[in-house]
Amino acid sequence: MSEVTLTIDDKEVKAKEGMTVLEAAQEAGFDIPTLCHHDKLAPYGGCRLCTVEVNDGRRTRLVTSCVYQVKDGITVKTESEKVVRIRKLLLELLWARAPGVQALRDYGIKYGIDRTKFDIGPTCCILCGQCVRYCAEVKKKNALGFVGRGIRRQVMFFPEIAVEECAKCGGECFSICPTGVLPSNYALTQLPGFTFPTRFLG
Ligand code: FES
Repeated sequence: MSEVTLTIDDKEVKAKEGMTVLEAAQEAGFDIPTLCHHDKLAPYGGCRLCTVEVNDGRRTRLVTSCVYQVKDGITVKTESEKVVRIRKLLLELLWARAPGVQALRDYGIKYGIDRTKFDIGPTCCILCGQCVRYCAEVKKKNALGFVGRGIRRQVMFFPEIAVEECAKCGGECFSICPTGVLPSNYALTQLPGFTFPTRFLG
């Protein structure tokens, strides 16, 4: 696999072709915020918090670094004014879903966010999808998934699979949930007479 050279925040960095900008940056010691990235899972690009500014010699644009592959000669800014502005907005939106959870609190300190102007009804789930993808990609069970659209989008366990498969697995996905809401979602599927809330199906 051939090597490419890129510049990240004025530092020359070597990376293998096929790597993402996030991987190259992490390997070079840069700390780009992530909420949906997991080393064991395929790149997803859901939370957008890892957004960086890339110049390829022709134009500058914002890209999602966990899915954008390195190219020879590109210049990457991980904390430009535009990038920081977008991260703040995203953090505020996520804060509205999961107010004050530790994962957001940590980034909130860095970017000066400790409240939100958005009112979208907290669910304590930031829809990073790590649990859904872990169950599908690593465990190959699909015991949980996204249901609903827009602000009603939720992660739910599918009782007919979860009751059997999650007991065998022991809830490995619980430990990768950045908000810690997953065990209570799971507990919901165990209630006698549990049925899927139809309001999430539309
Ligand atoms: S970490 Fe890249 S989009 Fe979430």
